[in-house]
Amino acid sequence: MEPQRYRFLLLFLHILRAVTALEIISKPGDNVTLSCIYQGGKLHLESLRVYWQIADDQDQCPVVHALISGQDNESEQCIHFKNRTRLFWDRLEEGNFSLLLLNVSQSDEHMYKCVVLQKSEYTKMIHQANVALSLAASYSQPILRGPIRNNTEEEVTFSCRSDSGYPKPNVYWINKTDNSRLPSELEITHHADGTYSVFSTLKVKASPNMQIECSIENKILQENLSANYTQEKQSNDSSTESPENLEKKQRGAQAVGIISIVILIGVLVALTCWLRRQRRRSSKLVSYTDVQLDEDEGGLNTSV
Ligand SMILES: *[C@@H]1O[C@H](CO)[C@@H](O)[C@H](O)[C@H]1NC(C)=O
Ligand SMILES: *[C@@H]1O[C@H](CO)[C@@H](O)[C@H](O)[C@H]1NC(C)=O
Ligand SMILES: *[C@@H]1O[C@H](CO)[C@@H](O)[C@H](O)[C@H]1NC(C)=O
Ligand SMILES: *[C@@H]1O[C@H](CO)[C@@H](O)[C@H](O)[C@H]1NC(C)=O
Repeated sequence: MEPQRYRFLLLFLHILRAVTALEIISKPGDNVTLSCIYQGGKLHLESLRVYWQIADDQDQCPVVHALISGQDNESEQCIHFKNRTRLFWDRLEEGNFSLLLLNVSQSDEHMYKCVVLQKSEYTKMIHQANVALSLAASYSQPILRGPIRNNTEEEVTFSCRSDSGYPKPNVYWINKTDNSRLPSELEITHHADGTYSVFSTLKVKASPNMQIECSIENKILQENLSANYTQEKQSNDSSTESPENLEKKQRGAQAVGIISIVILIGVLVALTCWLRRQRRRSSKLVSYTDVQLDEDEGGLNTSV
């Protein structure tokens, strides 16, 4: 093969490798395994040099882990990775050079390269692998609060919070009646464990039938979590009751009261009239019997 073509082929292979790099997504604080497996048969560890390196940052100290002549070589390891890396010793001879990286954090987000060199008469590279490490953690279900009525203006405030996610999210407020985005304010808190909390506030003009959504987007995980507020018809009615309406209602109640009192008086008057009439009739009866009784008594008296 001509040298020119050969070089082109190498370049092509290089690009292909970079493109086909394994991607690992991990949570901050977790331990991850960066995979590097050679499948060309048994190996003598004494003749090998294995380097795990950072491949995408020229400024950073590159050596993550070095295995030289069958031993970990700490003198070449960068301080950032001290005590945080392990090879799988029982699998090295099978060609498994995967690396366990402990307690990953934001500063570990890199493209890593595993290079396996074999020394015989001369040193040659027998294997190479690329692993891209990204950090991500799902946000908690957002909690939406509001509306809180602002006293001075016809404006209400909503708030939305979500916790323990990574990386920093996008926060959207959406007016669901026309699917428009609403401008808001965002507060981001970075925690010791590497995760973020977000607290966003929205101020909008109060309007009937408000439908508001707060959405938290995690770009790495392609995740959108949302919480909704829908104004209820019932609460809307009672809140918009005008003073005139209230007055009308009060007057109505008064009228009903007056009418029922008039009816009650009428009933009472009719009842007393009827009672009087009854009494008059019975008093006649009484006087009549009295007379008769007197007569009887008198009769008796006279007879005794
Ligand atoms: C580490 O490698 C250096 C050279 O790169 C060598 O001088 C040193 O002896 C090695 N240390 C161990 C513990 O193998
Ligand atoms: C690594 O661990 C050793 C012993 O456990 C300790 O002496 C050393 O300070 C540690 N190094 C770092 C950079 O943490
Ligand atoms: C993990 O790393 C963070 C810094 O990135 C450090 O604050 C924390 O103490 C480490 N945790 C452990 C268990 O080593
Ligand atoms: C999340 O929601 C926003 C707003 O609706 C949208 O622009 C974005 O594309 C969504 N992202 C995903 C991953 O679904």
